[in-house]
Amino acid sequence: MLKVINVVGARPNFMKMAPIIEAMNRYPARIQHRLVHTGQHYDERMSKSFFSDLGMPKPDIDLEVGSGSHAEQTARIMVEFEKVCLREAPDLVVVVGDVNSTMACAITAKKLGIKVAHVEAGLRSRDMSMPEEINRLCTDVLCDYLFTTDHFADENLLAEGVPPERIFFVGNVMIDTLLKHRELARGLGLIERWGLKPRGFATLTLHRPSNVDDPDTLRGILEALRTIGEEIPIVFPTHPRTKKMIAQFGFGDYFSSTRQPRGLWMTDPLGYLEFLHLNMHAILLITDSGGLQEEATVLGVPCLTLRHNTERPITCEMGTNVIVGNSGDNILNHAFKVLKGDVPPGKVPEKWDGRAAERIVKVLSRLA
Ligand code: UD1
Repeated sequence: MLKVINVVGARPNFMKMAPIIEAMNRYPARIQHRLVHTGQHYDERMSKSFFSDLGMPKPDIDLEVGSGSHAEQTARIMVEFEKVCLREAPDLVVVVGDVNSTMACAITAKKLGIKVAHVEAGLRSRDMSMPEEINRLCTDVLCDYLFTTDHFADENLLAEGVPPERIFFVGNVMIDTLLKHRELARGLGLIERWGLKPRGFATLTLHRPSNVDDPDTLRGILEALRTIGEEIPIVFPTHPRTKKMIAQFGFGDYFSSTRQPRGLWMTDPLGYLEFLHLNMHAILLITDSGGLQEEATVLGVPCLTLRHNTERPITCEMGTNVIVGNSGDNILNHAFKVLKGDVPPGKVPEKWDGRAAERIVKVLSRLA
């Protein structure tokens, strides 16, 4: 029997872990698993609502670490997770993605001599100003099993000297979750209730410190979005970090808090199904998120990424994603191209087929 601890911490972890848990449940005689939530994200709309939307079991253990500086948050997770590892003595810890919880738990387990698996390994932006890039590098260098989403990730790991027998190209677990919930999300009726027309609006997410923590950068982005908003409404489920910065910089006038036929409309963060519903019916996604670049590719919706680089180049090579940076003119040029329909349709990458978690758990079940 393989004793596993699965770790989640922040919003983008939940949809990656849900299909892994489901797949592990198919091996009750071989895999015994427990779920640890670090509590990096804790709000109803950043955490709890995902458990109900995705039908995930409640965490067995909640470390309740909350927010803090990177060092504070990482350290608190490590101290609390070490106690769990000592008490539970797992054979394997599974971490997903690239948030602080991912790195903190990988380091803690490895130092206790516990094997670690990283799902979504090998992604590289080559941008060391991103905390996620540091998390990805530190996690991958010490993991025993590296599960990758595409050939770029495999090549990155091999170039860094990771032995090939540790690397498993399995596909994309986040896409497992998207494909499973797509039809349910399609019919939610939210856009009708909000008076939006299919393909008649854009969706926006913005939360990277590099975009929202500096007032001049954020103002430049909002000016461009205001111009796009004169053509189509832009729905903006707002991350708590961004909401805080908008209030601090006095940028509230760029937004309406009730829906208007045009303009930028701020809403609270949405649940998984509501957000998927919105994105699949949008004409354009504007984002600085990592995962949304992949979701847009599978949904076939054009995506503009407001960053200077991406750790997910396959979404540009094959999918609908374009890296536009954060200067107003570039954002506008690309957005108007999309609105004119001047964009090629994308293709879905290999093995983004809904079966990635099954492939991962097949590998892990052989360790039992
Ligand atoms: C984290 C991840 C980022 C991921 C993002 C998705 C790291 C380094 N960053 O960034 O990769 O894309 O999650 O959302 O792990 N807050 C709340 N309620 C919550 C959680 C946070 O109000 O439930 C506020 C707090 O003021 C906190 C701030 O948001 O200080 C930032 O949260 P934090 O977890 O530090 O980073 P994110 O920006 O969410």
